[in-house]
Amino acid sequence: MRIGILGCGFIGTTIAKTLEGHPKVTAINLFDIDDSKSKGLSLTVEGSRYFPFERWEEFIEESDLVVEAASHRAVETYARETLKRGKDIMILSVGALADDALWEDMKRLAEERGGRIFIPSGAISGIDGIKSASLGRIEEVVLTTIKPPKGLKGSEVLAGMGLNLNKHTSPVTVYEGPAREAVKLFPQNVNVAATLSIAGIGFDKTRVRIVVDPAATTNRHEIYVKGRFGEMHIVLKNVPSMTNPKSSYLAPLSAIATIEKILSGVYVGT
Ligand SMILES: NC(=O)c1ccc[n+]([C@@H]2O[C@H](COP(=O)([O-])OP(=O)(O)OC[C@H]3O[C@@H](n4cnc5c(N)ncnc54)[C@H](O)[C@@H]3O)[C@@H](O)[C@H]2O)c1
Repeated sequence: MRIGILGCGFIGTTIAKTLEGHPKVTAINLFDIDDSKSKGLSLTVEGSRYFPFERWEEFIEESDLVVEAASHRAVETYARETLKRGKDIMILSVGALADDALWEDMKRLAEERGGRIFIPSGAISGIDGIKSASLGRIEEVVLTTIKPPKGLKGSEVLAGMGLNLNKHTSPVTVYEGPAREAVKLFPQNVNVAATLSIAGIGFDKTRVRIVVDPAATTNRHEIYVKGRFGEMHIVLKNVPSMTNPKSSYLAPLSAIATIEKILSGVYVGT
């Protein structure tokens, strides 16, 4: 299978380096809005080649599975184009799918043209159980995300609120409300809220609380689900990436595990 990595940052780089030499991967195609990143990565990963930004169509054509690990904007720009060509796509910037028109188009194109859409669990776990539970009835899904200040560094919303996270010594709740709004306000931070929403009861019913804790050393996600199946409590304390503290190490591992599923045809879990 020819794998196209769209976005050569922390997640894309981890995936490309892990797939190097994989017996079932015949090509690793690299693409980034910043050519120096895709070109730089191609020099360190054997069997890979980079596609300059203006050759995005060729990048998609030459890939069987496009793994998006870039940004909401990248999903908006390339997801339809990938599915239109009957290709498979994996989405990491899941918050982009809170745009109902985009998500409906993607599902329609996949059905019409035969491509598949993969959304890995990313930085959380329990998506398998929530998917199963959603076949019965789910009444409540609540996600509480607790991050160190550097995990929300650069947030335009927090800057707009005049909140200087470095001045706080105790935890501050910076958002409480529906997942739909959370993913728009904090696009780089709460993709997990989007994945939960898609697996469970949707963007409007899933509740999200975001807390910044100066004492936190992990990206902590607490998930509570209540439904006909019973109740679920999931707690993750994720190690943040060294290169991008907004991302957790578990996220690329989850994408790689999903690629392994696709390559091997062995599906464990829902
Ligand atoms: N699903 C999850 O649980 C989960 C977890 C962590 C991160 N993420 C998301 O995955 C994505 C990648 O995360 P990361 O930590 O690797 O980020 P990163 O910032 O380290 O890398 C992103 C790369 O994508 C490139 N890029 C951005 N916009 C682009 C575009 N329009 N076209 C082409 N390239 C583009 C950037 O130049 C950069 O090299 C982010 O959107 C992040 O929010 C999802």
